[in-house]
Amino acid sequence: MAPKTVLITGCSSGIGLALAVKMARDKQKRFKVIATMRNLGKRGCLEAAAGVTLNKTLEIRQLDVCDERSIITCINSIPNRHVDILINNAGVGMIGPIECQTIEEMKGVMETNFFGVVRMIKEVLPDMKRRRSGHIVVISSVMGLQGIMFNDIYTASKFAVEGFCESLVIQALKFNIFVSLIEPGPVVTEFETKVYEEAENADYSTTDPETADMFTNLYLKNSKAIFSSLGQTPNDIAEVKGLAGPPFRHQTNPVYTPMTALKHADPTGALMTDTFYKMVFKYDTLMHISLKAIKVIRWQARKMRQGVKMLGFR
Ligand SMILES: NC(=O)c1ccc[n+]([C@@H]2O[C@H](COP(=O)([O-])OP(=O)(O)OC[C@H]3O[C@@H](n4cnc5c(N)ncnc54)[C@H](OP(=O)(O)O)[C@@H]3O)[C@@H](O)[C@H]2O)c1
Repeated sequence: MAPKTVLITGCSSGIGLALAVKMARDKQKRFKVIATMRNLGKRGCLEAAAGVTLNKTLEIRQLDVCDERSIITCINSIPNRHVDILINNAGVGMIGPIECQTIEEMKGVMETNFFGVVRMIKEVLPDMKRRRSGHIVVISSVMGLQGIMFNDIYTASKFAVEGFCESLVIQALKFNIFVSLIEPGPVVTEFETKVYEEAENADYSTTDPETADMFTNLYLKNSKAIFSSLGQTPNDIAEVKGLAGPPFRHQTNPVYTPMTALKHADPTGALMTDTFYKMVFKYDTLMHISLKAIKVIRWQARKMRQGVKMLGFR
């Protein structure tokens, strides 16, 4: 069987880079990967990670999801514009009190995380429909299912993506096109570094002191603890089975499943708001102890897996 052409956006780092390399190195050679990035000056890490697959099963092309011309140029450069699998990965984060963010900055997040996905899908969908085959994957987030304090705009962008895909999936199925949403919890990538850097340099004088304190001393502290205790690696996401098959939603971190289930357990939203309020403002000490315990358990499990591997059992 001819390899499937996979186009991935945002491959200069993190999940996109890991996915591109994982698929390009597929032992059964099922994929030809078009790994795209908006700034080709950042191709070094991907080239190094791609190794022997570079220009064989992995090609690097320029594509900015906010620039329609670059999308069209990239798709037109693919023979017969034939994309079997589109992986919408490019994304940006944004954290902080909304009083400290401009509408222009907020629009920037929506432009990339929501309209970026829409632009890409609009460009490949007609060809997929004609061929009556295709798979559209979107790297969403648990924040596409559940709002998190001080992630208001980022969460809104991922909710937008989720609503868009939930509407599209049924029509797409009629054309034998599958749509999949991958919903990771925290993943340790440059994404985290970038938002923390922005948070450190931001001006909090446009909000009240209580909110500024809540963000810098409570949220940032909790967020860092959550990333270091529960964070997955980009490779964990690249291993996700849903990428090669059609389930519509795939949460990659089972720790988050109960959290996202709260609103379904109580449609009034009271259970969800009450739980989060208590977790953040009342039982934060307990939360930190639990996070530390989880961190130790995960560390032990990792060591055990390494030991099992070293002994040659896997
Ligand atoms: N890290 C997490 O905790 C986490 C959790 C859930 C979901 N996600 C989602 O996973 C996806 C990948 O994030 P990541 O964690 O791998 O972060 P990352 O390492 O920062 O990667 C983001 C990628 O998107 C690219 N990008 C940004 N704007 C773009 C644009 N206009 N056009 C094309 N590419 C653009 C970045 O390129 P530049 O290098 O040029 O900026 C970079 O290659 C995002 O959609 C994110 O929302 C991340």
